[in-house]
Amino acid sequence: MHDKPQGRCSEDDVQYAAVMFSHDLTERKGHCVNLSNGAEVALFRYCGTPYAVSNICPHQHSSVICKGMVSDGCVVCPMHGWTFRLYDGKCVSGETALLDVFRVIERGGIVYVEEPAEKTPAWMNW
Ligand code: FES
Repeated sequence: MHDKPQGRCSEDDVQYAAVMFSHDLTERKGHCVNLSNGAEVALFRYCGTPYAVSNICPHQHSSVICKGMVSDGCVVCPMHGWTFRLYDGKCVSGETALLDVFRVIERGGIVYVEEPAEKTPAWMNW
């Protein structure tokens, strides 16, 4: 038996990859998953809704977002406290920064994350 689901699905012309079982995505606890294109994604559940954002903090480009504390619909980077909204990645702690966000769906007890065409994080395009 796999401890991680396999497979893909598509919905509204968006391709999704299975990344974990829904019951493992517990409220406010972050998980890091790697998509096949190399993107590092931090997954959270907040008020029952799953969210997927880049695991790479745009401040020092550290792979730490999945270890952040979740509060008021935001994740706080554990390194220096930059705070990002889970639904759109906007930094709300005073910095002009953005976390990439990924569409996430749940089907049949499995969490699926959008597979983006490329892995270039938003901060590299500044
Ligand atoms: S590395 Fe995230 S706030 Fe500094």
